[in-house]
Amino acid sequence: MVEPLFSVRGLKVALPDMTRKPLIGRAPLAEILKGLDFDLPRGSVTGIVGESGSGKSTLGRALVRLLEPSAGSIAFDGRDITHLPEAGLRPLRRDLQMIFQDPMSSLNPRRTIGSIIAAPLKQNGLGDRLKERIAEALQRVGLPQSFASRYRHELSGGQRQRVGIARALALSPKFVLADEIVSGLDVSTQAQILTLLEKLAAEMGLTVAFISHDLSVIRRLCKQVIVMREGRIVEASATDALFENPAEAYTRDLIVAIPLPEIDAGWLDVPAAAKAPT
Ligand SMILES: Nc1ncnc2c1ncn2[C@@H]1O[C@H](COP(=O)(O)OP(=O)(O)OP(=O)(O)O)[C@@H](O)[C@H]1O
Ligand SMILES: [Mg+2]
Repeated sequence: MVEPLFSVRGLKVALPDMTRKPLIGRAPLAEILKGLDFDLPRGSVTGIVGESGSGKSTLGRALVRLLEPSAGSIAFDGRDITHLPEAGLRPLRRDLQMIFQDPMSSLNPRRTIGSIIAAPLKQNGLGDRLKERIAEALQRVGLPQSFASRYRHELSGGQRQRVGIARALALSPKFVLADEIVSGLDVSTQAQILTLLEKLAAEMGLTVAFISHDLSVIRRLCKQVIVMREGRIVEASATDALFENPAEAYTRDLIVAIPLPEIDAGWLDVPAAAKAPT
C-alpha cells in the first residue's frame, strides 16, 4: 500500500479562549480539536465538512503547521512535523500551500499580479526566467498573460481566485489546503473555479484538503470525506458511500440541508472553456 501523504493521530489543538481571559494574565486554553485520527491519501481530494465552528479551519491550519498541536502527531510525507520549529518547517513550506477563502484580503493591493506570483518563485530559487514562469502560471489558471501587470482591484472575484490558485501552485506543491475557496463567489463562477481546481489537481497529482460547508460541492470534487462536529470526526468515508449510506444522523442532516436546485441543476458540469473566465 502507498504511504498516505498525511498521517494524523490523536491530534489535539488548544487555543487561548479570549472570551474567558481574566483582566490580568493569560486566557485559559480551550481545546478546539479533541483527538483526531485520519490519513490523507496521496493524489486525491479529501473533503472536510461540518457546521460552522466545528474546527475545519483549525484542522487545516494544523496540517500546514500554522498552528502547533497540543497533543498527538502529524506525519507529512513520512516525516514527523508535529513540533517542528519554523526553521525546520521552512524547507517544507513550498510543499504545503494554501488557497484562501478571500483572495481580496490575501493579495497585496499595491503589487501587480505578476509580482505576487513571482514572490514564492524568487524565495525558492526560481527567480530566473521569471517572465516565462509567470506567464505559465497565469496560463495554467486560464488568465491571459497581460494580467501580470494588473492589480487586485482590477480583477473580478473569480479572476482573483484564479490568481490565488496560480500562486499556490507555482511551486508544484505536494499538498494544497483549500479553505472555503468558493464561498464568496456566485454559483457559475464557483463552478468554473471548481472545475479548474479539479483539472489541475488531477494533472499535477495534488493532494488536496478541501474545506467546505457545502456538501454538494464536496460530492462533486472529493474522493473521500471527513465529517466534523465540535472538534471531533464523526464520520470519515468514501464520498459515494457517505452519500448513499451516511452512518451518522448529523451527516444525514447535512445532506438533507443541501438545497435541491443545486443538486439537480447540473451546475457543476458547465465546461470551463464555454465562457471566458469571470
Ligand atoms: N484563534 C482562536 N482562538 C480561540 N478560539 C478559536 C480560534 N480560532 C477558532 N477558534 C474557535 O475554535 C472553534 C473552531 O473554529 P474553526 O474556525 O476551526 O471552525 P470552522 O469549522 O472552520 O468554522 P466555519 O465553518 O465558520 O469556518 C470555534 O468555536 C472557534 O470559535
Ligand atoms: Mg473555517
